[in-house]
Amino acid sequence: MKKTTELSFDEFDELISPPPTETEFENIIERAITRRDVMGGAITFGLSSFLLSSAPVAAKTTETTFANDQFGFKQIPANTKDTVTVPEGFEWKTIVKWGDPLWTDTPEFDHKTLGNSMTQSRSFGDNNDGMSFFTHEEHMLLAVNNEYTNKNSFYINRKSGKPENDDDIARNMAAHGISIFEIKQVDDQWHIIKDSPFNRRITAKTEIEITGPAAGHDLLKTTADPAGLTALGTWNNCGNGKTPWGTYLSCEENFNGYFTSSDEAYEISTPLKRYGISKKGRGYKWEQIDQRFDISKEPNEANRHGYIVEVDPKDPSKPIKKRTALGRFKHENAEVIIAKNGKVVVYMGDDERGEFLYKYVSDGVYEEGKSTSQLLNKGTLYVAKFYDDLKGSWLPLNPETTGMTQAEICIHTRLAASKVEATTMDRPEWVAASPLKAECFCALTNNKNRGRKPNKGGDETPVGGPNPREKNVYGQILKWIPEKEDHTSTNFTWSLFALAGNPTVHNANAEDKEEKLKAGSPNINAGNMFNSPDGLAFDSKGRLWIQTDGKYTNKGDFEGMGNNQMLVGNTQTGEIRRFLVGPKECEVTGICWSADKATMFVGIQHPGEKGGSHFPDGDNLVPRSAIISVRKKDGKPFG
Ligand code: FEO
Ligand code: CA
Ligand code: CA
Ligand code: CA
Repeated sequence: MKKTTELSFDEFDELISPPPTETEFENIIERAITRRDVMGGAITFGLSSFLLSSAPVAAKTTETTFANDQFGFKQIPANTKDTVTVPEGFEWKTIVKWGDPLWTDTPEFDHKTLGNSMTQSRSFGDNNDGMSFFTHEEHMLLAVNNEYTNKNSFYINRKSGKPENDDDIARNMAAHGISIFEIKQVDDQWHIIKDSPFNRRITAKTEIEITGPAAGHDLLKTTADPAGLTALGTWNNCGNGKTPWGTYLSCEENFNGYFTSSDEAYEISTPLKRYGISKKGRGYKWEQIDQRFDISKEPNEANRHGYIVEVDPKDPSKPIKKRTALGRFKHENAEVIIAKNGKVVVYMGDDERGEFLYKYVSDGVYEEGKSTSQLLNKGTLYVAKFYDDLKGSWLPLNPETTGMTQAEICIHTRLAASKVEATTMDRPEWVAASPLKAECFCALTNNKNRGRKPNKGGDETPVGGPNPREKNVYGQILKWIPEKEDHTSTNFTWSLFALAGNPTVHNANAEDKEEKLKAGSPNINAGNMFNSPDGLAFDSKGRLWIQTDGKYTNKGDFEGMGNNQMLVGNTQTGEIRRFLVGPKECEVTGICWSADKATMFVGIQHPGEKGGSHFPDGDNLVPRSAIISVRKKDGKPFG
């Protein structure tokens, strides 16, 4: 059996999630009946109208040709190289790597020692994920999440592969959080401007104000903060968002694995269990230097994490804020839209098997130049319900619908959403909203428990609706259109933009529906196949970029898919084309563009997470997560 430190976040959650309940047998019967119905109904019309309404889709051939090419590049094949591959006419360069100093007083990354807590707290964090590009006067800034660390690189300097002293743990805490820094372009190469007044590191120790309905609630009070108003730090910052008023949203995801209990007999409360808090933790050992990570000593500390954090990259003097009104769950990203009536709408996924898709609608409206301070504090949180007739609704979470106070809803959001019987989803990752029309997309990355096991709250996860495959290993991309093209509407229609799959291993024409569905939707072919869509973002021209965090075994169900990758989709025709392949054992995540759209910034997270890569430095050196720039060789804009 693997050690906890070797588990992925979802393997860890699987390990600590409660065993199947007594009703499991009944559930199986019920699911079987439901599945028969669905197989006769929704899924069969599935592969015609249910998936991808319009348009010609590419034939299932390796050579994809497009009559009317709106992508501007020739698809690249999958590969398993330990480097980044981009199409002909494009080039990529590394901009910043884990451990690169942001100030001149800090030494360059040392491959032998890997630095210490002091150097790490003044250098780019590890495992970069979501990021946004900002311009401020003549300055260009990047705000970047540093999600977590991998023992195969982070403690490669230790024989045990684990933290061996207090500074090892402090170094780890400093590698988490957010990095903000100024960049400039000299010829074709982007550089960090060291010592820029905008450079800053936000780590697991930085003071953050708690705002919104849960601020000051008893469940947020701790020994160090009896008022429940100031949290220390942010970690496991996954996807991101950017507001029209120029702030960065950083989304706290798997915050649970950092908590442990020194008291073996400690009884973990139901809400903490729902969020995956366990007595063991994932092996970070933060509790050894900071007692608040010991739940038997500080049971409310975990309630202060799992939020969306708002930072103003342009003004380091402004307080950083946790926005409790947007709910507490394993936040993926935060896609911000200004609705036609001026209200702020934020779409958000909760990435865990059988959890939910949410949106927030502000009470106030956004007006340029007016105060924005309450827009993410006062509003309504909704959770999505999908029906088999391809319609859906947003169910409000309020005291009337949940029997909980507004503060409790913001702290125990998963429990509130279960009460209104929202649809359990196949791990909602990023949401992206089209800049051209009222259409949204969400990557449902995969869910091996679909149709087999309830979520942590005991909610059933039946096969059907937007989650049509039992034991879903490939993932799908969901699309929905708000009623009357109004993002504040509580009604929508939905379909699936793509059902990822492997048409070379599975038979798209099989009689057996499960086999047929494993081949993927008609827009998936031998040339563009992928698994586990995760990052999703539109460029300014309305092309949908898709990043993957999936299996890279290149075997069995995943044969021919190669390393994790980035593709681009045409949401009108359904065409999907592979643009980039990442190095070995990485996830491709995080995407944004320079102001002139001539540079695309892409995140390469945890290359060599199993020890099989030396990206990007080569020469048998430690693999390092990095941000790369991708540009057309002719320097023309393409995003
Ligand atoms: Fe950090 Fe759900 O990915
Ligand atoms: Ca992700
Ligand atoms: Ca993922
Ligand atoms: Ca990741």
